[in-house]
Amino acid sequence: MTETPQPVQIAALAWGVKQSFRSYVEATGGTIEVGAEATRAEDGGFVFQAAPDSDLSLAADGTLQGVGKFLGEVKFDSHGGMLKVFLADPILEVRESGAVLTVADTPKRNYRVEVATLDLAALVREDAGAVVAPAALAMFGIQWLGDHYPLKTPLDPVRLTPAAA
Ligand code: HEM
Repeated sequence: MTETPQPVQIAALAWGVKQSFRSYVEATGGTIEVGAEATRAEDGGFVFQAAPDSDLSLAADGTLQGVGKFLGEVKFDSHGGMLKVFLADPILEVRESGAVLTVADTPKRNYRVEVATLDLAALVREDAGAVVAPAALAMFGIQWLGDHYPLKTPLDPVRLTPAAA
């Protein structure tokens, strides 16, 4: 008898926000600092580990379900402190209407902003088992990034790594 493959939990979320924004901040003499549980990936993006109460899973048919809570923070600073963009503890929520990514936008984490929408219909599974979804700027993300990009501007794709089986 063959066993039905069980969904696997997502253990980490990697997202670089927007490559051109990272390059801009660093090219203008600014800094990008990662803190708490976040780390910087080789491609310049950021990796957030799943929180203990995270419940985002990837089914055998490649569909995502649940709410993924991830830990860590990133601080962008430039133009002598005039540019300050902060994000912490991303949450990825799979809803009927689509998937959204929210972040806390202050170190106190008292507010959350819906920064991106994810196109799960275009989810790609990589050889190593991770899945990658295209992301686009959501309405409240516009102001978060200083009102420079229009709604639905493509952002860096979001990569989700399942826990080792
Ligand atoms: C002294 C203040 C500032 C100056 C002189 C400045 C200057 C510039 C310049 C010249 C560009 C065009 C860069 C290019 O196209 O290569 C740019 C782009 C941009 N700026 Fe600023 N800026 C300032 C403040 C800010 C602030 C407060 C934010 C808030 C987040 C911000 C966010 C952005 C973004 C998102 C872009 C587009 C980057 C991209 O994706 O190419 N800037 N800025």
